[in-house]
Amino acid sequence: MTTPTTLADNRIRPGAGWLPGASAIAHPNIALIKYWGKRDESLHLPVTDSLSMTLDIFPTVTTVRPDPTLDSDVVVLSDQLATPSVHARVASFLDLVRKRAGTTVHARVNTRNTVPTGAGLASSAAAFAALAVAAAAAYDLDLDRRELSRLARRGSGSACRSIYGGFVVWHAGTDDPSSYAEPVDAPALDPAMVVAIVDEHGKRVSSRDAMRRTVATSPLYPEWARHCATDLDKVRTAIASGDLDTVGRVAESNALGMHAAIAAARPPIRYLSPLTKVVLDRIVGLRRAGTGVYATIDAGPNVVALCSRRDTTAVAQALGRIADQVRVQVALPGPAAYLISEGTARSSAARPGNYSSPVTTPCSSAVPPPTVRGNGGSRPGTTFA
Ligand code: DP6
Repeated sequence: MTTPTTLADNRIRPGAGWLPGASAIAHPNIALIKYWGKRDESLHLPVTDSLSMTLDIFPTVTTVRPDPTLDSDVVVLSDQLATPSVHARVASFLDLVRKRAGTTVHARVNTRNTVPTGAGLASSAAAFAALAVAAAAAYDLDLDRRELSRLARRGSGSACRSIYGGFVVWHAGTDDPSSYAEPVDAPALDPAMVVAIVDEHGKRVSSRDAMRRTVATSPLYPEWARHCATDLDKVRTAIASGDLDTVGRVAESNALGMHAAIAAARPPIRYLSPLTKVVLDRIVGLRRAGTGVYATIDAGPNVVALCSRRDTTAVAQALGRIADQVRVQVALPGPAAYLISEGTARSSAARPGNYSSPVTTPCSSAVPPPTVRGNGGSRPGTTFA
């Protein structure tokens, strides 16, 4: 057993007793301009800026309880003890939080997610965003959203975007302080995403390994990365003017370019399955028939269709009819990550915010969590994958 250190030594709520722990909810985000490739592996600094939409489905709920009696962190994912590799990833993330809090006290982490894990549906983004918000509160770090975004980035790059709701840009930056996400106003858009799950099983090559191999070996990667800046500019302009077709067109090209670069890695990596291609063809067919719908794909075989909210029923029906195996789920822009039970911690910025209004100012009053539409109806999975 570790000798319990005094509260004052550890600066977790000095003098007032242990925190009961803190719980947070975060949602996945789907990138329209992808993050693919790191310039710094340990700080998770990306090669390019990226832009995403946080969803209102597939929430991850995480509780962190510091406990001075523990020898090491205890990590439980959907009622099961974490595998050694997941445990190591969570523990090293908590080490960052502890270092900042000036404590060595370990914690019990309990997390439950509803997104199929490791299938290219951003499960680690929601997982590390929820962990960052809960851990910061549990260890009594008073961080604003930008700092939470930087912290979440250290767990998984894309997690820095799930700290915010709605559309979010991640500035690649050149060092730790300059690499953070912030919200993008989208007053004139009424977007939705139809998630077409063609395969819920984990991918064979993790996005982290695939990213590394693509950057190191794919002859197509430099060209794709070079295009990201112009793609981002076009998408930001189109978001500001409410032009969903341009947003979708550029996003689709950006995603397909990323997959071409991935496929050209040596040895090659292929995330797209035959059914992925059927879904892509169906989206092209819908477009030819007059529906403004566009595809994006993360590191896996599943497809996310971007369309206007009014077209979701038609798009979901068309994609859901492709095969019994294809399961569709409609998502709207979702909320920022938020605390659901704070104890007496003060991670002041972790309050629910309107997705279109930037929340960067710390505040100290508790606000009830926003209504979350649907839970994704998915099997609970492990997370941090
Ligand atoms: C294809 O954020 O999972 O979803 O930083 O290594 O944890 P690490 O990678 P991760 O990669 C996400 C890649 C992507 C594109 C995106 O979300 O922008």
